[in-house]
Amino acid sequence: CNFAYGQAIIKGINYDESKVPDFVLPDPLICNDGQQVTTADEWEKVRRPEILEIFMSKVYGRTPTDKIDVSYTLLACDPKAMDGKATCKQILFTFTNGKKTIDAILLLYIPNHVQGRVPVFVGYNFMGNQTTTLEPSIYYSPGLRFVHGKDSPVWTRGAQKNRWCYDKILERGYAVATMCYHDIYPDRAELRDYSVASLFPDYISGSKNHDEWEAIGVWAWGSSRIVDYLEREGRIDMSKIAIMGHSRQGKAALWSGAQDSRFKVVISNDSGCGGAALSKRVYGENIARITTVLSHWFCPAFSQYAGNEENLPFDQHEMLALIAPRHLYVASAEGDLWADPKGEYLSAYYTNKVYELYKMKGLDSPVPPAVHQPIMNDVGYHIRAGKHDVTDYDWERFMDFCDLHFK
Ligand code: GCU
Repeated sequence: CNFAYGQAIIKGINYDESKVPDFVLPDPLICNDGQQVTTADEWEKVRRPEILEIFMSKVYGRTPTDKIDVSYTLLACDPKAMDGKATCKQILFTFTNGKKTIDAILLLYIPNHVQGRVPVFVGYNFMGNQTTTLEPSIYYSPGLRFVHGKDSPVWTRGAQKNRWCYDKILERGYAVATMCYHDIYPDRAELRDYSVASLFPDYISGSKNHDEWEAIGVWAWGSSRIVDYLEREGRIDMSKIAIMGHSRQGKAALWSGAQDSRFKVVISNDSGCGGAALSKRVYGENIARITTVLSHWFCPAFSQYAGNEENLPFDQHEMLALIAPRHLYVASAEGDLWADPKGEYLSAYYTNKVYELYKMKGLDSPVPPAVHQPIMNDVGYHIRAGKHDVTDYDWERFMDFCDLHFK
């Protein structure tokens, strides 16, 4: 019965494949009124908006349509950064509603050895721009001060440089634009009033509206604001924008990609529960755990499915399908069972029906590939050895995938 199902899941995290419940995934091509979608046109006009509405009202909350004023100040420009390999710009974004302002800093590297416009990876970092490189001229990200005390590693330059192989990315002709996610929404429930959400006209502090947008929604909105800025950059090819997000930012990257068609390649790295992973498998992190420990990431309505995945009328493959006909890449790590690698793969696999409407090729088999056997179709996937992280191997595959679709 539902109760027993729910209790078992709330008490423990399941890592046993034989205990994954039997489930039937909703067909993304069946409309709310039961009609079957058979063309890309019907998908775009009828079913796609329905699915978007499901995720706005039940998972991430509703992204406001109001515009927030933003001004850009060039804080620094080094045309010979990284031994002359790159142009490095640091741009202060000041968001304001006239009464209050919030600052964020974008760090942008553009390769110097390529002429003209270049493709770009957009992605948030976790611990500040200054942790992505040892370069001493990089400003500390402003949002950090809300979240981290003076002993935190966020104040150490280069602390997360292993996640940002700028040398390799630039060498392959890609620009990279990163910002600290805390600048947009400092990642604590009690800090919502310091997030850009608080600048919107209908903002209610502490609101528990069932479809209130929360951190993932706000981070997704912020990624789109980075693209707005890039539109002003003469060196960026706006038809070749990839978004890459790791873990909680993988969830946000998928949600950005679902809503903003300027992202032509959408990459989820180890995004897990509430990201690429299918919730109905209830393997690794589950809805009960994520909506209690990290309740400020999702709209309040999502918690009604805590321990109740059996009755979830949708699943994450439908959110991933919103990215079609743009390109989707999902990456997992073998040692990251918390994020349910198999569930991440299956979710990408079950977008197939939607990609087929566009005569595009998704993932062929419901059986995930072996470690280090990437699949590069219109939808791509890899699982690598190792733990929850972003490694050079991941970046190299992301660039292979982008090369395939951009070049
Ligand atoms: C926690 C959380 C995950 C999330 C991860 C991260 O482990 O439970 O859902 O993906 O943090 O963002 O690193």
